[in-house]
Amino acid sequence: MTVAEAETYWTALKGLPRPTLTALFGDRSRLDTYAETLELPGGAIRFDWSKTHLSSEVVALLGAVAAAMDVEGRRAALFDGEKINNTEGRAAEHTAERGIGKDSSVEEAEQLHARMRMLVDAIHEGALGEVRSLIHIGIGGSALGPALAIDALTRDEAKVAVHVVSNIDGCALEAAMKACDPATTLIAVASKTFTTTETMTNAMSALEWLRDNGVSDPYGRVVALTAAPEKAVEWGVDETRVLPFSETVGGRYSLWSSIGFPIAMALGWQGFAEFLDGAAAIDRHFLDTDLADNIVVRAAFADLYYAQVRKCQTRAVFAYDERLKLLPDYLQQLEMESNGKSVLADGSALTRPSAPVTWGGVGTDAQHAVFQLLHQGTHLIPVDFLAVKVPGHDLDPAHHHILLSNCFAQGAALMAGKASDDGARAYPGDRPSATILCDELNPATLGALIAFHEHRTFVSAAMLGINPFDQFGVELGKAIAKQIDTGGGEGFDPSTEALLKLAGIGS
Ligand code: F6P
Repeated sequence: MTVAEAETYWTALKGLPRPTLTALFGDRSRLDTYAETLELPGGAIRFDWSKTHLSSEVVALLGAVAAAMDVEGRRAALFDGEKINNTEGRAAEHTAERGIGKDSSVEEAEQLHARMRMLVDAIHEGALGEVRSLIHIGIGGSALGPALAIDALTRDEAKVAVHVVSNIDGCALEAAMKACDPATTLIAVASKTFTTTETMTNAMSALEWLRDNGVSDPYGRVVALTAAPEKAVEWGVDETRVLPFSETVGGRYSLWSSIGFPIAMALGWQGFAEFLDGAAAIDRHFLDTDLADNIVVRAAFADLYYAQVRKCQTRAVFAYDERLKLLPDYLQQLEMESNGKSVLADGSALTRPSAPVTWGGVGTDAQHAVFQLLHQGTHLIPVDFLAVKVPGHDLDPAHHHILLSNCFAQGAALMAGKASDDGARAYPGDRPSATILCDELNPATLGALIAFHEHRTFVSAAMLGINPFDQFGVELGKAIAKQIDTGGGEGFDPSTEALLKLAGIGS
């Protein structure tokens, strides 16, 4: 790969004329070119990128960047299980969890899934007595995926009520405890490393809660989900309730592994299998489709065009579906922890902007709060809208009509704008958006949506030359917190020292 060669195409991209979206729609085939419906296991999903500034010229130059950066080679290396996470010396094998990847890794993932399935089925059949609730304790990648999937898919019914607890703030765990009966509750301790302070502290408090409430063998109510099974056993979990996963599955890509245990507990194994299948369908599309026709690559091209060429510092995601309200949170970690870097995989400096800030919310709420800035602010913010054709409720269909009308109206308004003699009432328009419309929201389509975003993030990283699979940027703050916790409240800047003193911490 040659970053220098890519630079010439980035420069050329900057110099291209910038027709408006309305002008681009002068090409009558535009919709066919940039919007596509994929038939997937859980139903169709439409990926409409026509209201972005992608054009044949832009795509050709981004294609040249992709060739210079060997995106095809990177994609092959990802699926072949090569050690593409070079800084940590390992592969990134989340797709193997979905059955696509190096044979030995797929085989290992299948064996670990079989072990997980046995435990899930046994618990559903009563092997651990009556289980009504599961408190899933984890943080970051060990919590955001399960939280999203549970919230999106189990609003109507769940085999077990799952409460995801991540924050070290005891208010989070306390709320879950209040909602559960200790006699019928299991605790899942989810941590790839099995060392994360927040998770281990919350897990100890959960054990105390069980003990204080008459559970004679609290450890007997714990299931550990981890890539460090020996640490879980050492901590006190019986080996039969330790569900390992491979070191090569990154934390923020781990919901397909045993970290997905709460999803399987809530949906049943069949639902979890469908979730994996939906993701696998996107894996196949991404792997088998030419870059030019690849919906994942198209989305990454648009992301890069806005971040690199139009210098957009943020991108927004609005789910016009209450069930997907945690998706922006999930994507924040996926995109910002993966691509928020200032060095390339080879250690040299990244000389262009890294990933933009991902933010967002749920529609229509966000319209009444933040859309003012999207329409009339001075920032150009590319927006993704996500919606689902079939509503997730049985109320009057008017609710869903209004919801979807608003979603589509926003994209249209951002693009068209509106002239006015009165500046306060004028909308500049020409503001980009993409729309993802699912026929239904079910385990398979949610799996597909998440896998689409994983690969989109991967392509962006490959185009820039970033390793998206490490996250050294989170370490310094953790180390300082540990130093303070162990009594070292001095030697900081005056502001920090004063805060520590005021809070009575660190000395
Ligand atoms: O601090 C960041 C991070 O390492 C994430 O990448 C990860 O998902 C999270 O912490 C939790 O880590 P673990 O699963 O090892 O507890």
